[in-house]
Amino acid sequence: MGMSNSLEQLAGGVAVITGAGSGIGEGLARVAAEAGMRVVVADIALERAEQVAQSICEGGGEAHPLRVDVSSAGSIDALAAAVHERFGDVTLLIDNAGVETLGYSWELSAEQWDRTLNINIHGAIHGVRAFAPRMIACGKPAWIANTASIGGLGMMPIQTSYILSKHALISYSECLFLEMQLAGAPIAVSAILPGPVATRIFSDGSTTTDSGSEAHRSMMNAMLEADGISGYEAARRILPQIAAGEFWVSTHPEITRQMATGRAQHLSTLSKPALPEEVLQSMGLSVDS
Ligand SMILES: NC(=O)c1ccc[n+]([C@@H]2O[C@H](COP(=O)([O-])OP(=O)(O)OC[C@H]3O[C@@H](n4cnc5c(N)ncnc54)[C@H](O)[C@@H]3O)[C@@H](O)[C@H]2O)c1
Repeated sequence: MGMSNSLEQLAGGVAVITGAGSGIGEGLARVAAEAGMRVVVADIALERAEQVAQSICEGGGEAHPLRVDVSSAGSIDALAAAVHERFGDVTLLIDNAGVETLGYSWELSAEQWDRTLNINIHGAIHGVRAFAPRMIACGKPAWIANTASIGGLGMMPIQTSYILSKHALISYSECLFLEMQLAGAPIAVSAILPGPVATRIFSDGSTTTDSGSEAHRSMMNAMLEADGISGYEAARRILPQIAAGEFWVSTHPEITRQMATGRAQHLSTLSKPALPEEVLQSMGLSVDS
C-alpha cells in the first residue's frame, strides 16, 4: 500500500492519542480526524484537550476530550475502559505524551526522575498493556505507535533522563513489533522518531536549580522555534507512514538517517561517547583541538 492512499485504511476507526492537547499529539489528532477517524484527545491538561477537540469538531471532524495521566497505570486503565464503552473498538493507539527534564543526572531529584520515566516510558508500556488486549480480541487490523525521538538514536548530556527514555521506547517498540508477529495479531507497530518540531515541550520542561540547565533549556527552545516544523506538519508526515505499516516513522528522514548511521558507526567501532562538533558549538562548549 502506497503512502499517499494509506490514510484511507484508517477511516471509520477509533483513534486514541495521548498528549493530544498540544504539539505533535494535537497535530496527530487533527490529521486522524481529517482521515475520517473518531478521535479521543487524551491529555493530563483537560482544558487544552477540550480546546483541541472543539476545534476539530468545528472543522467537521469527530473528537472527544478525555483526561488521562499516563504516569498512572490506573488512569490509563480507566481511559481504556471508558473509551471501549463509549466508542467501541480502538484501531489506532498513539502513546505520544512525553516531557523534557533538564539537568545533570545527579542533580535531578528522585521525583524528577520518577516523573520523567513514568510519563515517557511507563506511559507507553501501560498504554499498550491497557489497550492491546481488546484491540487483539476484536480481530480488526489496528495500529500502535509510540512517540520516541531522533534523540533515541543518540546522546545528549543534560537531557539524560529524556534521552534514555527515548532509547527505551525504541527498544520497547522493536520487541513489541516482534511480539505482535509471534502472537499472529493483525496489529502494526511503529516507533515515531520526530526531528525538531516547534511545541511547548522545552518551555514546559522541568529543570534543576543550576543556571546551566536553564541555559540548555533556552538554547533548545530557541532551536525548536527557529528550525522546528509545526505539530500539524509533523503529523501530516507521520500518520501516512503509520497507516502504511512502516516501523521507523520519521518527520525528517535525512536527520534520522544521519543519526542512525552515526549510532551504527559508534557501536561497530565501540568508540567512547562523543558529541558532534556542531552540537558542542550549539551548547557553547569551546572546541579546542
Ligand atoms: N517537539 C520535538 O521536537 C520532539 C522531538 C522528538 C520527540 N518528541 C516527542 O513528541 C511527543 C510530544 O511532544 P511535543 O513536542 O508535542 O510536546 P508538548 O509539550 O507540546 O505536548 C505534550 C503533551 O503531553 C501532555 N502530557 C504531559 N504529561 C502528561 C501525562 N502525565 N499524561 C497525559 N498527558 C501528558 C502535555 O499536557 C502536552 O499537552 C513527546 O513524546 C516528545 O518527547 C518531540
